Amino acid sequence: MNLSELKTMMDEAVVEANAAMTNEDLEAVRIKYLGRKGVLPAVMKELRSLEPSERADVGKTANEFKQTLNKLLDEKGRKDNEGSAAGEGFDCTLPGRWHRLGTIHPVSAVIEQTVSIFRSLGFTVSDGPDIETRYRNYTALNTPEHHPSMDEQDTFWIGEDDLLLRTQTSPVQIRAMESCQPPIRIVTPGRCYRRDTTDATHSANFHQIEGLYVDRKVSLSDLKGVLAYFAKELMGEDVSIRFRPHFFPFTEPSVECDFSCHVCKGSGCRVCKNSGWIEIAGAGMVDPRVFEKVGYDTEKYTGYAFGMGIERLVMVKYGVSDIRMLYDNDLRFLKQVGR
Ligand code: DAH
Repeated sequence: MNLSELKTMMDEAVVEANAAMTNEDLEAVRIKYLGRKGVLPAVMKELRSLEPSERADVGKTANEFKQTLNKLLDEKGRKDNEGSAAGEGFDCTLPGRWHRLGTIHPVSAVIEQTVSIFRSLGFTVSDGPDIETRYRNYTALNTPEHHPSMDEQDTFWIGEDDLLLRTQTSPVQIRAMESCQPPIRIVTPGRCYRRDTTDATHSANFHQIEGLYVDRKVSLSDLKGVLAYFAKELMGEDVSIRFRPHFFPFTEPSVECDFSCHVCKGSGCRVCKNSGWIEIAGAGMVDPRVFEKVGYDTEKYTGYAFGMGIERLVMVKYGVSDIRMLYDNDLRFLKQVGR
């Protein structure tokens, strides 16, 4: 590098140092020119190959350059730091930074809406623990000892004891009936746990909302009316529902309730796996054997119960075809479906 090239480089370095906005920028300039692999040490190494007449001038100028740049960087660093400490670097005319408000997670939003619809029908909300006893999760719900749902594969047992992570919100029915006499009209939203392998429609940890109504003369048509009303309130007038006969140990008769697919309006899509329907709830008339367990008079009272999958409701309401999207917390997704 000859003398004029060195001078040009010096000018550039000064411009870069002055343009530096932060301590990191200043450090980058220092490394570029003065660092071990920087421009200046390279110039020093080249000195030997220069003509002796040029060597002295270039050497001297390079040394001056080193001092000047060091001084400039030090001064500028000190001044910037003082400036911000004294508030001088703060420009109060700049517009403020906008902080985005979070949204309510779709699972929470659907729980809120569901609860509020049932509240408007006279239901109250009750709650139960995630860790349950075998008795309330199974035995009191008339589920025999060797029922497949009790398998190691389905239930997270806790230790050797009779404790487990509840596989359904139904044990809250037992808790409610143990502590109150009819009439009883409750919904209970909450988390459930099953040893399911996660895929597009299953998760080991999901949410249900349970419903229970016990009184004199409660009938299956009351249940159908309430679920049909709920479906329309949540999804809109154009939803249809259908009931299919089914079996649950704690209800007799038992049904499964499907909603028509809100996404494709029944013509078939990914969300409903081309069937036009989505299975939303299990339900039925409370089996008298469950009433016996909690000491209710089976001659006097009848009742209906239902349990709905919250994630299913979210998926059909918002057109989500993979349940895992509800747990990934990808902000792009949450902003789209959140409220
Ligand atoms: N607990 C059932 C399940 O997780 C759903 C269910 C079915 C709940 C029938 C009920 C009912 O209350 O009556 O599959």
